[in-house]
Amino acid sequence: MALVEIRDVYKKFGHVEVLKGVSLDVAEGEIVTIIGRSGSGKSTLLRCINALETIEGGEIRVEGRQIHAKMPDLRQFRQRVGIVFQAFNLFPHLNVERNVTLAPLLTGGIGKAEARALAEDVLTRVGLADKIDAWPEQLSGGQQQRVAIARCLAMKPHLMLFDEVTSALDPELVGEVLKVMEAMARQGMTMILVTHEMGFARNVANRIVFMHQGRVWEEGPPAELFAHPKTPELKSFIASVK
Ligand SMILES: Nc1ncnc2c1ncn2[C@@H]1O[C@H](COP(=O)(O)OP(=O)(O)O)[C@@H](O)[C@H]1O
Ligand SMILES: [Mg+2]
Repeated sequence: MALVEIRDVYKKFGHVEVLKGVSLDVAEGEIVTIIGRSGSGKSTLLRCINALETIEGGEIRVEGRQIHAKMPDLRQFRQRVGIVFQAFNLFPHLNVERNVTLAPLLTGGIGKAEARALAEDVLTRVGLADKIDAWPEQLSGGQQQRVAIARCLAMKPHLMLFDEVTSALDPELVGEVLKVMEAMARQGMTMILVTHEMGFARNVANRIVFMHQGRVWEEGPPAELFAHPKTPELKSFIASVK
């Protein structure tokens, strides 16, 4: 069974149709990379999967349950689906431990006594166990983004969504964040990620989805998709990112 089922999803902002009948299944443990030009609807699709946007048509199911912004247990649902954005959004007035454990403490997922151990665990997974008492401003952009990933992991998500998480980073910091994501992929996390890192897409993704003008234009395994693009739109996109 697919962990995520997206069926014929339509989304408008005002009169502008941004998603025009998107369908996509993601199996448990699968790594799906979404590529495409700016404005093709990639971020909107991720936000719909996390119920941050309402949709006008179609349906989205996660673990078999239909997702919508008015579901009664929206909070609990969001804990199962982690989302990391381009901007890291750490709380500047909280140290790393507090940033990472704030949500599970607030939702009652853990008590104060367990918070430290949880922070140590998830920070170890992103290679930052030694920064547990640091403040966000003392960290590089790459480290901050890894803390943001750790913060999601602290909620024990079943699915992770990443929206261009390395795009705002200096080039020398991109690799450390990609490495963390690669490790998560190896450990079996189901991930849907929007990225411009074509090397990562080729090497780590099981499947690549090329979005164009609000539609899934082409999809397939990386080797096949990059070597044999079927549409002129994908051909020209690949040429533009080389
Ligand atoms: N909150 C919003 N209000 C109005 N238009 C939006 C909003 N979010 C996105 N859009 C528009 O939807 C289209 C797709 O945007 P987006 O999903 O961000 O694309 P991508 O992530 O592929 O660059 C763009 O034309 C964008 O301007
Ligand atoms: Mg985007």
